[in-house]
Amino acid sequence: MRITVLGSAAGGGFPQWNCNCRNCAGVRSGTVRAKPRTQSSIFIRPDEGEDGVLFNASPDILEQIRARPELQPARSIRDTAIAGVVLMDGQVDHATGLFMLRERGTPLPLWCTDPVAEDLSTGNPILRVLAHYCGVQRQAIPLDGTRFEIAGLSLQALPLSSKPAPYSPRREAPIPGDNIGLLIRDGRSTVFYAPGLGEITPPVFDAMAGADLVLVDGTFWTDDEMPRLGLSAKTARDIGHLPQSGPGGMIEWMGRLPARTRRLLIHINNTNPILDEDSAERATLARAGIEVCEDGLRINT
Ligand code: MLT
Ligand code: MN
Ligand code: ZN
Repeated sequence: MRITVLGSAAGGGFPQWNCNCRNCAGVRSGTVRAKPRTQSSIFIRPDEGEDGVLFNASPDILEQIRARPELQPARSIRDTAIAGVVLMDGQVDHATGLFMLRERGTPLPLWCTDPVAEDLSTGNPILRVLAHYCGVQRQAIPLDGTRFEIAGLSLQALPLSSKPAPYSPRREAPIPGDNIGLLIRDGRSTVFYAPGLGEITPPVFDAMAGADLVLVDGTFWTDDEMPRLGLSAKTARDIGHLPQSGPGGMIEWMGRLPARTRRLLIHINNTNPILDEDSAERATLARAGIEVCEDGLRINT
């Protein structure tokens, strides 16, 4: 399959509009060697054909589509390579880009879980608003492991321990389906994608270990990254993200994967020191064989 990373940053993007942390100020002034990034989204096509699946609809989607010609094959006066959209959760950074697709002539094929569809019809009623434009043709993502197919890709969801969006009535009491990971297969290879992942449970580790490539939560380096900078009282784990460093962190888990597994981090928060290409933290990842996604990265697998 052919993967294009459209956006590799967490909510807020990088640099974040109102942020003057070391990374955000440094990338603006050119004193930190880092690349700006838009908010979390990927596009995957099978080996053949032009159509593919958009995973998450970021608020930056129009800029992302303009920057990546594979999303606009121009086969007719109105066209798109997006055969369908799959949501991993109902967070603002993953769902509000749906508004930008409203000019479609037919309802937008949209796959999401029941809890996400509920949040997107109540607390943040994007689906109800879109009904006044193109509308959505919504399909439920099964949580029992049943595979489903979109545009020649076979998908299988795994409920994850993380957090629904702050506006969700379930923010502090998540249920299965608020956040998912996906096994994505094309007959040749298997990818595990989980941009928001709070805990590596045995089924999650099994899914990661069975994949050729893992593309997982790279939000924070340390659990107390935001509190330490005085930016929030909440830790990484409080908001449903497993930090990379320390005991039980993502680096340790990734170290247990088979040697052949390609390991990438995505959904990186602007405070994360791994964005600085000259940082010690980035060097630690490199030694562990872990790559950091950037916008426009293309992977054929
Ligand atoms: C998260 O995943 O926790 C987010 O990036 C939050 C947000 O969109 O503001
Ligand atoms: Mn997010
Ligand atoms: Zn910042």
